Amino acid sequence: VAAGMITGPTLKESKVVWHAAAVAREERATQGATVWLTGLSASGKSTVAVELERRLVAAGVPAYRLDGDNLRHGLNADLGFSAADRAENVRRVGAVAQLLADAGTVAVASLISPYRDDRDRVRAAHEAAGLRFVEVFVDTPIEQCETRDPKGMYAKARAGEITGFTGVDDPYERPERAELVLTPEDGDPGAQAARIVEYLTS
Ligand code: PPS
Repeated sequence: VAAGMITGPTLKESKVVWHAAAVAREERATQGATVWLTGLSASGKSTVAVELERRLVAAGVPAYRLDGDNLRHGLNADLGFSAADRAENVRRVGAVAQLLADAGTVAVASLISPYRDDRDRVRAAHEAAGLRFVEVFVDTPIEQCETRDPKGMYAKARAGEITGFTGVDDPYERPERAELVLTPEDGDPGAQAARIVEYLTS
C-alpha cells in the first residue's frame, strides 16, 4: 500500500499493486492542498466553500468543491447517516480530495464529518503523502444553525421525525487542532473565506 492511502474495506485481501506516479508533483504547474470544512448542518460550511472556491479561481488558483450533500447524490448515494456510513463518506471524500490535491488543485471539502477520528485519518493520509491539509472548523453555535434551519431539518429532528441528527441526537466532536476556527464574529461567509485565503497564502 502506498504511503498516505487510507485502505478501503477489501484492499487487505486483494492483490492490487500500487503504481508510483510518473510525473513528480513539482513538475506540475500548480501545487494543491485540501481545505476541509467541518461543522454542524446549517453552520455555513457550504456557503464558505462556495466563496472560497470563487476567490481562489478568480486569483488563478485551481480549486474544486467537494460538497457532502452534493456527493451524496452520486459517489456516496449508497450511504446513510450511521456512524459507519459517515466514516465511509469521509473516507471517500478524503480520498477524492487527496487525488485533487495531488493533481495540483485546492480541494475544498465541506462535510459535517462529525467524528474526530474520521477527520484525523484523512489528515494523516494527506500528511503521509506530503500533501497540505487545512482543517477549518466552522464554529457556528447550534442555536444559530437551528434558527437558520434552511431545510427544516432541525425542526424535524426536534419533532422526532428524523433520528440521529447531528447536534440534536447524534454527536458532533469539535476539532481540537483545527488550523482555523471560524465563528460568526469573523463576519459573513465572504469574510470567513477571506480568512482561509489569507491562511493559505501566508
Ligand atoms: S456527514 O456526517 O459528514 O456524513 O454528513 P454530510 O455528508 O455532510 O451530509 C450532511 C447533510 O445531510 C442532511 N442530513 C443529515 N445531517 C446530519 N444528520 C442526519 N441524520 C442527516 N440526515 C440528513 C443535512 O441536510 C446535511 O446538510 P448540510 O448541508 O450539512 O446542512
